[in-house]
Amino acid sequence: MILVTGASGYVGGKALAALLRQGLPAVGMVRNVDRRGAGLPAQTPLRVADYDDPASLRRAFDGITTLLFVSSDVTARDMLRHHAHVIEAAVSQKIRSVVFTSIIDIDAQSPFYFTPVYRDAERGLRESGLAWTILRCGLYSDLVLNEWIKPALLTGTLSLPTGAGQIAAISRDDVALALATVATSPIKHAGKIYELTGPESLSLHDFAKVAASALARPLRFIPCSPADFLQRASAEMKDPWPHAYSTLCRSIAEGRYQRATDAYERLTGHSPTSFERFVRDAASD
Ligand SMILES: NC(=O)c1ccc[n+]([C@@H]2O[C@H](COP(=O)([O-])OP(=O)(O)OC[C@H]3O[C@@H](n4cnc5c(N)ncnc54)[C@H](OP(=O)(O)O)[C@@H]3O)[C@@H](O)[C@H]2O)c1
Repeated sequence: MILVTGASGYVGGKALAALLRQGLPAVGMVRNVDRRGAGLPAQTPLRVADYDDPASLRRAFDGITTLLFVSSDVTARDMLRHHAHVIEAAVSQKIRSVVFTSIIDIDAQSPFYFTPVYRDAERGLRESGLAWTILRCGLYSDLVLNEWIKPALLTGTLSLPTGAGQIAAISRDDVALALATVATSPIKHAGKIYELTGPESLSLHDFAKVAASALARPLRFIPCSPADFLQRASAEMKDPWPHAYSTLCRSIAEGRYQRATDAYERLTGHSPTSFERFVRDAASD
């Protein structure tokens, strides 16, 4: 039996839906049964647990052989604890294979706020004795579109401290398909790290140009200084997000999200979604 965490979220919900469509024995883990992800039907098999409640995780993992462990999504400190609880429960319930969604920006020198969280979970998995597969995901195309481009359409100017940094963005749908693919034969992928990215590296100038053309809206990119960004973000967002986004931008400026790999295609047999197609699909939805 496969269990997918974060099943009320986008990636977990989509991965679970893909497994159930193939007729595989799979359940989703949610905190609240009323929050099923990505349009999952009412009869979707679910188990209730919270990353902050180790006993609930052990109950949810009972009889599970493969765990699709979608990383948590809160502050870095809470995520460190959540991920440790999941790994401890997986060990205690003798889960055979764990597939974890990490990030490509895992380097010890990375300035990104969330990098140590993912490095810690990867270390925890390696030291756990469990069979693991790590999907190091590039920056989500969804994040670029929803968090950066859509708000920028209001003024026609996208302004971030990313300099000439490039991003090989991957869509969350592609990440979900990669997760579901590994779940079908986890032993074959044990001990492997896949760096999942989109097909091309684009600068923020390119992203603005592609989105402007696909959405038929004026948009240009003007890089700003980290200090200007932090000031603007601090007026708009609560902690830790100004720091998280400004360190993400620094990491992008340092080229840490640039490299496009062929890992997605090798893993799934499909081409990853280009940003242009992603925006056009999002617009037609
Ligand atoms: N590579 C990137 O660019 C990028 C960007 C953003 C995020 N991420 C990571 O990618 C993951 C998947 O993305 P997504 O878009 O699917 O995220 P999402 O839709 O926000 O889903 C996050 C999931 O985590 C669950 N969760 C949070 N706290 C929990 C807890 N204490 N116990 C149990 N479940 C908990 C949420 O459950 P509830 O519905 O109950 O809150 C939700 O199902 C994120 O969680 C994050 O770690 C990556």
